[in-house]
Amino acid sequence: MNKKEQLYEGKAKKVFATENPELYIVEYKDDATAFNGLKKGTISGKGVINNRMTNMLMQMLEKKGIPTHFVEEISDRETVVKKVSIVPLEVIIRNISAGSFAKNYGVKEGIVFEQPTIEFSYKNDDLGDPLINQYHAIALKLATPEEIETIKKYAFAINEVLKEYFKALNIDLVDFKLEFGKQSDGKIVLADEISPDTCRFWDSTTKEKLDKDRFRRDLGGVEDAYQEVMRRLMGE
Ligand code: TMP
Repeated sequence: MNKKEQLYEGKAKKVFATENPELYIVEYKDDATAFNGLKKGTISGKGVINNRMTNMLMQMLEKKGIPTHFVEEISDRETVVKKVSIVPLEVIIRNISAGSFAKNYGVKEGIVFEQPTIEFSYKNDDLGDPLINQYHAIALKLATPEEIETIKKYAFAINEVLKEYFKALNIDLVDFKLEFGKQSDGKIVLADEISPDTCRFWDSTTKEKLDKDRFRRDLGGVEDAYQEVMRRLMGE
């Protein structure tokens, strides 16, 4: 499988066409941004870790009955994925208070919820990815009511699988962001990535942050944190 023209460059990945009109190649970069691109930097080796971690987790989710865009890892940083149109929603699941939840609702970080929460942001950089509810998403024609129900069902199911999996690695899955895509036949599949860029991971014992918050908050040890999660995932 060879890369043809670049179709899109995002903050952390590039997307290329291939000779097969049904397949794309994504290439993971080391570039990191935060606060809607206001803060910029590089996390050395991030692209390799996020590519491998996403692919491992997506293959595991497929086995648990969640359809994904994953097709084949072709190099350290490159993966063949199914062509989908991304549903312009950031789907955020939270198990423990942190980040914007703690800030918006005036609570401390680290409160363990009895039930996970779900929220949607409208994926639109010009508007700063505003928080919306499912009725707004339907009114804005970002997704149909049936697609929203499918996305919610998959998001909560993914949470159960990932929470249990990370618990065994002594990692608390605090919260994470998912994106879904729509195939040409209308089927909704998990797309984008699952990585320390898009999840909050805390060591279960020390509560040390093992994710992109180390970059967002200038905590240092960013590369080491990404490597530590990868090391645990690889069973080393
Ligand atoms: P938040 O607490 O800042 O709203 O973030 C919730 C989760 O979503 C956290 O795991 C980080 C992830 N996230 C992204 O993947 N991309 C983003 O642009 C933002 C703001 C958060």
